[in-house]
Amino acid sequence: MRMVSLYSIKGGVGKTASAVNLAAEAANMGLRVLLWDLDPQAATTFYLQVKPRIRGGVEKLVKGKSAWEKVIRTTALDNLDLLPASLASREMDHLLEKRGTSHLRQMLKEVRKEYDLVVLDCPPTLSHLSENMFTSVDALLVPVVPTTLSLRTLEQLQQFLDDQDLACPLWPFVTLADRRRSMHLEVMEELGNDWPLRLSTVIPAASVVERMGLERAPLCEFAPSTPASKAYAALWQEVEQRLRP
Ligand SMILES: Nc1ncnc2c1ncn2[C@@H]1O[C@H](COP(=O)(O)OP(=O)(O)O)[C@@H](O)[C@H]1O
Ligand SMILES: [Mg+2]
Repeated sequence: MRMVSLYSIKGGVGKTASAVNLAAEAANMGLRVLLWDLDPQAATTFYLQVKPRIRGGVEKLVKGKSAWEKVIRTTALDNLDLLPASLASREMDHLLEKRGTSHLRQMLKEVRKEYDLVVLDCPPTLSHLSENMFTSVDALLVPVVPTTLSLRTLEQLQQFLDDQDLACPLWPFVTLADRRRSMHLEVMEELGNDWPLRLSTVIPAASVVERMGLERAPLCEFAPSTPASKAYAALWQEVEQRLRP
């Protein structure tokens, strides 16, 4: 069971859009995927038309004592299940404080054999939750909007991981890109030079991504032939190759 997280200290950079679309692409390719919504705002849960509710409560979930068949929900897509978030998910941070490293991965012990891939959608915080996540995942996929400020947050994140001696690999990729803007091109070039582990696929800024909120579905379900949807398919291919043992 591979585990990746969409993560950035910055909000509004496309973590949720990317989590939903990458998980859907992986499911389309035949992997058994669990998308885990860790953000109390529950946007991923909303996009997949599931009620923001953790049946049995967050505490049971953190103790690994949940009735999984009740907590994990199926979605309209084959091979894609969802572990939803709710406002109560904010308690998870506090509950994880007392737990050891990689507890988020251990929580899934009982369902480990049922999934090939777990995709986490995280809130943009540095917290007990994110620290536990850093020790649980195989890689952090970090959406970077092509601005200098966004590059700075990426450096801050790397600095934090280095300071804490966390070896979690950081795989940045560009989102919300507008190739007509010269600054975007410059930042993309800088990312390519300074971050050898960056993923080379660029996700364009496209209004069809915003439509996900109306359609409540991933792009491959309602706009598969658009450039944004194809970009997510290509990004998934890149991630998949790196995750191969
Ligand atoms: N590639 C894109 N093109 C256009 N709009 C996007 C794109 N990716 C995300 N958005 C929009 O930007 C906003 C923030 O995206 P979201 O995925 O929720 O970010 P985050 O999870 O990092 O806060 C949302 O309204 C979303 O629809
Ligand atoms: Mg989000």
